[in-house]
Amino acid sequence: MQFTTSFIAFCVAAVVSGSALPAKRANAVTDVQVLNFALTLEHLENTFYAQGLAKHSAADFQNAKLPSWVRGRFEQIMKHESTHVSFLETALGERNYVQPCKYNFGDNSVKDFVDFSGMVETVGTSAYTGAAQLIDDKDYLTAAASILATEARQTAWVNSAVRGGAPWSTSFETPLGVNQIYTIASSVITSCPSGNAKLLPPLTAFPALTLPANTMPGKNVKLAYKPAKGAKTDGEKYVAFISGLTTVFVPLPKSGRVTIPKELYGVVFAMVTNNGTVADDSTTLAGPAYLNFGFGSDGKAEAFAI
Ligand SMILES: *[C@@H]1O[C@H](CO)[C@@H](O)[C@H](O)[C@H]1NC(C)=O
Repeated sequence: MQFTTSFIAFCVAAVVSGSALPAKRANAVTDVQVLNFALTLEHLENTFYAQGLAKHSAADFQNAKLPSWVRGRFEQIMKHESTHVSFLETALGERNYVQPCKYNFGDNSVKDFVDFSGMVETVGTSAYTGAAQLIDDKDYLTAAASILATEARQTAWVNSAVRGGAPWSTSFETPLGVNQIYTIASSVITSCPSGNAKLLPPLTAFPALTLPANTMPGKNVKLAYKPAKGAKTDGEKYVAFISGLTTVFVPLPKSGRVTIPKELYGVVFAMVTNNGTVADDSTTLAGPAYLNFGFGSDGKAEAFAI
């Protein structure tokens, strides 16, 4: 039976790389907190597209050598995001809900805008994938799945039709936890209304992890991060590369240099951990950082067109 064979193959691969299926939920996050967390991300996306499209004109898109239909599609994505905002606000109804934060997206060119769009859609998809286990109400779960699929289509469109890369990464989307998502989102959030925090699950942003712009599978690169105050920095450290449902651990020597595993491709999230088999909130020292390794239809590494 094919399913059994491939499932066993997956389990073996997961054990080899020290990964497992996502851990079962072990917290008491409420649906209202999860919806407010989703609304936090939708506000970020909605503001990004509204500000970005106001800033980058049709002529700018043309100068960036993009076909004229690209900007119109981005306008459609912007409408999806604003619809997601009002949909979640309606779902929260009479309850208090989070307001937009202030952001610095740093998109000074159409290329930056396209890059950030690809990232934010992928991270949004990972957020909904990871948050599924936190939702109790089946109607909310269906609504979240419906948004998830749209975000995934948007990711696929940006990465393939616009950037000339692959629409997908591996056989599985990467589920990320709320603190992992919040860590990535924090890199563009400058301040939030003071009333937001009490409506959200308790959140921690881990220290930012940065890798050089030319990071590629097989390359030896130097990582940079500032450990959190009071973090235990002695002892073994590892870089956990999370891709789909698989995590690959590489020891991180004192030099801070690691060779990126050759087998990685597509979107990969990198974290520094103090454990060589477990990459979760309790073992994280920095990250996740978002990495996107382009690959052609032959599976070989390839640069993006934009
Ligand atoms: C990693 O975590 C596992 C599970 O908690 C534990 O058994 C193991 O000893 C830890 N390894 C290290 C190097 O801390």
